[in-house]
Amino acid sequence: MENIANKVAVITGASSGLGAETARHLVEAGAKVALGARRLDRLEALARELGSDNATVFKVDVSEREQVQAFVDHAVATFGRIDVMINNAGVMPLAPLELLAFDDWNQCIDVNVKGVLWGIGAALPHFKAQKSGQFINVSSVAGHRVGPGGAIYSATKYAVRVISEALRQEVKPYNIRTTVLSPGAVDTELPGSVKAQEVAEGVAQFYAATAIPASSFARCVLFAMSQPEDVDINEILFRPTRQEL
Ligand SMILES: NC(=O)c1ccc[n+]([C@@H]2O[C@H](COP(=O)([O-])OP(=O)(O)OC[C@H]3O[C@@H](n4cnc5c(N)ncnc54)[C@H](OP(=O)(O)O)[C@@H]3O)[C@@H](O)[C@H]2O)c1
Repeated sequence: MENIANKVAVITGASSGLGAETARHLVEAGAKVALGARRLDRLEALARELGSDNATVFKVDVSEREQVQAFVDHAVATFGRIDVMINNAGVMPLAPLELLAFDDWNQCIDVNVKGVLWGIGAALPHFKAQKSGQFINVSSVAGHRVGPGGAIYSATKYAVRVISEALRQEVKPYNIRTTVLSPGAVDTELPGSVKAQEVAEGVAQFYAATAIPASSFARCVLFAMSQPEDVDINEILFRPTRQEL
């Protein structure tokens, strides 16, 4: 893998699933990682696994702008720069609108949309100043299609794609790359964020029958990062081979 060693990647949602697995692959390829999420114990265990020279941790709730700024500032203070901002933290509270799960609607928008915006806002000044950098924003197959129960989650994941495309066009003068990664079903803790009982069982069964390992996602991140700096991989959509919709 070219163009990954010694890069500094900031990863939100690094305490489990896709973020944690990506951190492992990046360190294996010689990168440094700043790991952020709310569950500090999980981050610390991962950092021990990766080695203290390679990883630093920061407790962050991505729905809070000041916390995301502090996370990015911590990464810069620790490693001297950042090269990649992986806006990955997310929740998936699938439920029909008629359940009126207003708190879940709020949380989903705050984490999946505002969390990505706060990550962009915190990293962009650094990328502009150094005239290089890469955003990797995590959308979903749900950012390409919507079904019953998916209104809010899909809306947030469509939003990630819209925000990323405008960002892509705006940052041309600064030599910044923008990638949107849209996975299908991948085996992580994400189905656990489905709270509606009538939906959770079906989602769990679907994941058990369909999901592929998180390494599938990590390999896509490394592919996008490893391209020469004049190649900007803008969007990757992938599914388990056995996933229909
Ligand atoms: N797995 C899939 O099938 C799939 C498919 C398409 C897209 N995605 C997207 O992939 C991303 C990662 O999800 P995953 O599959 O790896 O699920 P996961 O195992 O549940 O991981 C979600 C991560 O987000 C973090 N997070 C949640 N709320 C947060 C908050 N308020 N502040 C900071 N961190 C927060 C969690 O950490 P803490 O709880 O410790 O804060 C955790 O590290 C999400 O954006 C998800 O929508 C996943």
